[in-house]
Amino acid sequence: MVAHVAISLDGATTGFTPAVGRFYALAGTWREDVTLAGADTILAQEQALRAAPRPGPAAGGPLLAVVDGRSRVREWDALRDVGHWSGVLALRTSDSSDRGDGVAQLVAGTGRVDLAAALAALAREHAARTVRVDSGGSLIGALLDAGLLDEVSLLVHPLLAGTRGDRVWHGHAEAARVLEPVAAETLEDGLVWLRYRVPPA
Ligand SMILES: NC(=O)c1ccc[n+]([C@@H]2O[C@H](COP(=O)([O-])OP(=O)(O)OC[C@H]3O[C@@H](n4cnc5c(N)ncnc54)[C@H](OP(=O)(O)O)[C@@H]3O)[C@@H](O)[C@H]2O)c1
Repeated sequence: MVAHVAISLDGATTGFTPAVGRFYALAGTWREDVTLAGADTILAQEQALRAAPRPGPAAGGPLLAVVDGRSRVREWDALRDVGHWSGVLALRTSDSSDRGDGVAQLVAGTGRVDLAAALAALAREHAARTVRVDSGGSLIGALLDAGLLDEVSLLVHPLLAGTRGDRVWHGHAEAARVLEPVAAETLEDGLVWLRYRVPPA
């Protein structure tokens, strides 16, 4: 499982305009089976999603799985049809409220989505071998602390987000650790792409 994230020099994932084209071109590196997104990442896009073209599901594309224990995501139809994913799946808990949205669900845990159990079920039931995490930090931090992340990929932008950056890529991860460098590449416009392996805890 790899987390690929666009950051500022001060580690923020928000508060600046990322190089979106470059970000997604690099995201293609892993050809993931499943894109794992946090609900807040999806909620931040919902307004744009409503207005986006809907070519329909991408045959052969990854499955989009959204950690949505509080049933906050609404735009499932738009997500399914926006042309990036082959399908969508809500990761929920045994006490998630049922919004009657008809989206396919995977239930793991009570109170909060049990990330380890959800990933095991994704591997078992959806043949997920490679998972790419799309998160502003909270989900990445939780995956780091749970020892579920294998790689971190940072597209570093040459700017400081300052107080406009209200999220950092590692979220609230508590465990200190040393990551193993895999690659470092200087790209156009001062962008730097850094990849690190996360050793087992
Ligand atoms: N720069 C980038 O590359 C990039 C990428 C994606 C998003 N973003 C930006 O980042 C912002 C959103 O980021 P975010 O950090 O607020 O949210 P996030 O990481 O995208 O998602 C938070 C989700 O993770 C779940 N979660 C967090 N800790 C958990 C735990 N311990 N166990 C189970 N589930 C857990 C939360 O569950 P609950 O619902 O239960 O709390 C919530 O559903 C948006 O503004 C978006 O635009 C930037």
